[in-house]
Order: sequence, then C-alpha cells, then structure tokens
Amino acid sequence: MGEIIKNFMQPELVDRYGRTVTYLRVSVTDRCDFRCVYCMSEHMSFLPRRELLTLEELDRICSAFVRRGVRKLRITGGEPLVRKNIMWLFEQLSRHRDAGNLDELTLTTNGSQLKRFAQDLKSVGVERINVSLDTLQADRFRAITRWGDLTAVMHGLDAADAAGLKVKINAVALKGTNEDEIDDLITFAHSRGYDITFIETMPLGEVDGDRLDQYLPLSILRARLLDRWTLHDIPHNSGGPARYVRAAETGGRIGFITPMTHNFCESCNRVRLTCTGTLYMCLGQEDAVDLREPLRASPSDDLLDAAIDEGMRLKPKGHDFVIDRRQGRPAVARHMSVTGG
Ligand SMILES: C[S@@+](CC[C@H](N)C(=O)[O-])C[C@H]1O[C@@H](n2cnc3c(N)ncnc32)[C@H](O)[C@@H]1O
Ligand code: SF4
Repeated sequence: MGEIIKNFMQPELVDRYGRTVTYLRVSVTDRCDFRCVYCMSEHMSFLPRRELLTLEELDRICSAFVRRGVRKLRITGGEPLVRKNIMWLFEQLSRHRDAGNLDELTLTTNGSQLKRFAQDLKSVGVERINVSLDTLQADRFRAITRWGDLTAVMHGLDAADAAGLKVKINAVALKGTNEDEIDDLITFAHSRGYDITFIETMPLGEVDGDRLDQYLPLSILRARLLDRWTLHDIPHNSGGPARYVRAAETGGRIGFITPMTHNFCESCNRVRLTCTGTLYMCLGQEDAVDLREPLRASPSDDLLDAAIDEGMRLKPKGHDFVIDRRQGRPAVARHMSVTGG
C-alpha cells in the first residue's frame, strides 16, 4: 500500500516565492445560461465546442494535479452545470476523494440547474457548494443576470438544503444596484444557515457598461454594516482570499473578498485551468501555459507534468487590478467566465 502511494504521489507544486499550490479551479465551459452584467456582455461569442477539452481530458489534467499534491478542486465556469454530462466528471474525480488524495471536490454555480443536480452532487461526495446570488428581488435579479430566473435559483437552494449540501452565498457588491439589499442578503443567508461572502467587481473582460459605475469598495460596505450589525473578526480561513467576521445578531459568518482594496497574494495557493486547457497562474495576470498540447501529444503524463512545472515557474508575485477611467480598458482582457471565478 505504502508503495502504491509513493508511486502515485510526485513532487508537490511550489512556485518561485515558496508558495505551495494545493488548489485548482477548473472552468469546464465558458458558456452560461445567464449574462450577468459584470461578467459578460449581452452578446457574448463563445468558443467553438471543438476547442474545449473533453471531459476525459479534464479528468486527466485534474488527476495530474492531484498527483502533484493538489487537495482541493473547484469546478466552475461559465456555468458548470450546463456542460453536457458534467456529472460524469464529478463521478470520476470523486475517486481521488475516496482514495484520500483529495480533501474537497466542490463547485461554484449560479444555481439555475441545482434543483436537478443537488442530490447527485451530494451522492458523489460534494459537501459544500458556492451559489452566486446578488439580489432577492425577482426584477432586479433579471436585470443583473439579464436571463436569469430567481425562482429557479430558490428552488435550487431548497434542493441543496434537502440534499444536505452546505451552501455559501457569493454576492457581488454593485454600486447603485444591490447596495441597499446587503442587510437583506445577510439576513436571508444566515436564516438558512449559509455563510455569505461579498465580492468586489473586478475588471475582467469587456462588458457593456462602465466598470466604475459598478464598483463599490467593500471598505465602504463594511463600514455601513456597522450601523446594523455587531461584527466580530474571526480567524476562519476557508483557504481562500476572504476575510471573515461573525454577526453577533445571527451567529452567521460574513466574508469579504477585496481584490481591489486588499492584496491577498502572499498566501495564494491556487491556479486556474480554462476549458481549453490553458493554465493561468493568477486571475489578474496573463502568465499562462498551455496544457492541451502536451496532454494530447502523449498518452503518458510526462509532457503534461513538465508544462505544469513550467507554470509554477511563471506564477507571479501578485496582481495589480486597477479600475481607472484613464485606462478605459479592463485590466485583464479575458472574462471571469473563461478563467473561472
Ligand atoms: C464566473 S462565475 C462562474 C460560476 C457560476 N456561473 C456562478 O455565477 O457562480 C463565478 C463567480 O464570479 C463572479 N464574477 C463574475 N465576474 C466578475 C467580476 N468581473 N468581478 C467580480 N466577480 C465576478 C460571479 O458573481 C460568481 O460569483
Ligand atoms: S457570473 Fe456566472 S452566472 Fe453570471 S454570467 Fe458569469 S458565469 Fe454566468
């Protein structure tokens, strides 16, 4: 048994700055059944299907990362649950969890398809999911997502609860759009036993509006919360960039992800795979390696491993997002739906 484990595991992934990469986020599709205003333009052009990695290829790459010490896989997109046969991938990947080589297999979803998939996800060993929800008002939900239906997401949340999935809500804080609803979102999440995390908009990809119009610094939001809530800092670390507080009134947790106002790069443990097999070392930088070609060039994983090592050498020290009128362009051209949020 010891021998099998020794052969299976290979040197872990450490970058130039001594950070060990233990977390891979995988965008399985750039497509989505919503068109959120901060994420996509209304008329997005998507990748031709032939450009996408097959589910088998995604499994092979994820498995290579697990062999190199990755302990957490997050499936994201685009909307991961609109990819055909996506449950097959979850089933395959769950073998690493069963073998004790993976701590967590999880997903970020807009919730639209959750009613259909919640029970299956739980059955293959998914314990916790992130559901994105920026508003509790149906008309506003439609305005933010352009195509989304709040009722479907609520049914999805009910199904997740019934299946025993632990839910965390992700809400993007949008100036003039949902800033008056922050307290309601907290009350809603905590009343259902969910954590809630607020995210600042990041300048990723062209969208139709002006980013500055959407940008609400979380420092402002957090200061406002003090009028209503008694917040205690807590050391809770979800392994990500969120900083958490506990609301005394509900006992629930509130997280803040502040890429624009707070630099969390020193402890970054993650890399991101796009659905075409490009490995991005940082959400906010262009440094990347292609894994698709080495993957397809050989049935053994030697070339793939070498490309992953090359990626580790490229991982940048940090990002430097700026939302700036003078710049006029997004800091990073690719959309969040490509790199995976
Ligand atoms: C790209 S989505 C992919 C998964 C799924 N479709 C969903 O919405 O949860 C992941 C997360 O990224 C967030 N997001 C998308 N574009 C963003 C941006 N420009 N700035 C900040 N967050 C963004 C979304 O709100 C969502 O919580
Ligand atoms: S945030 Fe998620 S749900 Fe909204 S458009 Fe982007 S990928 Fe789709």
